[in-house]
Amino acid sequence: MRALTVVPEQPGSLRVDTVPDPRPGPGELLVRGLALGVCGTDKEIARGEYGWAPPGRERLVLGHESFGQVLEPVGDFAEGDLVVGVVRRPDPVPCGACAAGEFDMCRNGRYTERGIKEIDGYGSELWTVEADYAVRLDPRLRDVGMLLEPTTVVAKAWEQIQRVGERAWFEPKRVLVTGAGPIGLLGALLGVQQGLDVHVLDRVTDGPKPRLAQALGATYHHEPVEKVLGALEPDIVLEATGVGSLVFDAMAGTGSYGIVCLTGVSPTGRSLTVDAGTVNRELVLENDVVIGSVNANLRHYRAAADALGRADLGWLAGLVTRRVPLDKAADAFEATGDDVKVVLDLAGER
Ligand code: BGC
Repeated sequence: MRALTVVPEQPGSLRVDTVPDPRPGPGELLVRGLALGVCGTDKEIARGEYGWAPPGRERLVLGHESFGQVLEPVGDFAEGDLVVGVVRRPDPVPCGACAAGEFDMCRNGRYTERGIKEIDGYGSELWTVEADYAVRLDPRLRDVGMLLEPTTVVAKAWEQIQRVGERAWFEPKRVLVTGAGPIGLLGALLGVQQGLDVHVLDRVTDGPKPRLAQALGATYHHEPVEKVLGALEPDIVLEATGVGSLVFDAMAGTGSYGIVCLTGVSPTGRSLTVDAGTVNRELVLENDVVIGSVNANLRHYRAAADALGRADLGWLAGLVTRRVPLDKAADAFEATGDDVKVVLDLAGER
């Protein structure tokens, strides 16, 4: 079968390889890959800036935004079921969080991640997954199932916001989502589903992003962030760009008891001058909280599947702005101005 592989830490090593078909072990499903979402993390790995190969191996099969169809079922699964594989696996110790099933909160950093850290990913025509780490999707989601994983990331972020908010009286009304990429827009979707007044900020003034935000019933902004924050004083900022300066603007610009949830991974090595006293003063005097949120556990996969099930299918399909066949995989890693989510087609004709 064909698989998209890379040598971590080696820029330019991405290629489509022919590798042996995987054989499911006990308790594992054999899955035909249908599609794979490509995200910023995949691009970082392809640029040689992130990622770890499986121990003793040079190449890693890339891909963690999975979607496929069961060929050989086990347990409760049936042939033909649409499934997504979970990204992270608990550390081997395991730490307390991993032992409790909250591997997204791993404390010792020895977790592994499919397609990212030490285990092959889902970017192949066939893949296997432990039935315990597979999530079944409603057949209605056949064209958009690869959006589940990014949705799990925002399902976790929203859960964290809710839990932090509940430390005192909490009735949030308004959220500003910074960044109208897939994470931002899916975060906005979940905000709208909760009945919040959702605002989305991005730099672009036309193309699919403003349209997609407005189609959700959210308000789209492209003015400077300080101006938008000043006018809105949001209860919550869901940050999905990873742009350092924006993170600090968000921390200073929420309303009282504000929560800023950071989901974007920034490039390192860029410095920024910040008035730390003002940031500290703001956080203390307003009981503000800043939380970082990464990855997702099974609870978030279920919440995300539920959220996608309630979303408008046409809107979800609109997030997928480009589909690239596996043999042209490199094209999916080149940004074009109007991309929201680029998807690799794993099941197309050769
Ligand atoms: C993935 C997460 C993963 C993180 C860090 C993200 O792109 O969605 O599942 O934990 O990268 O490796």
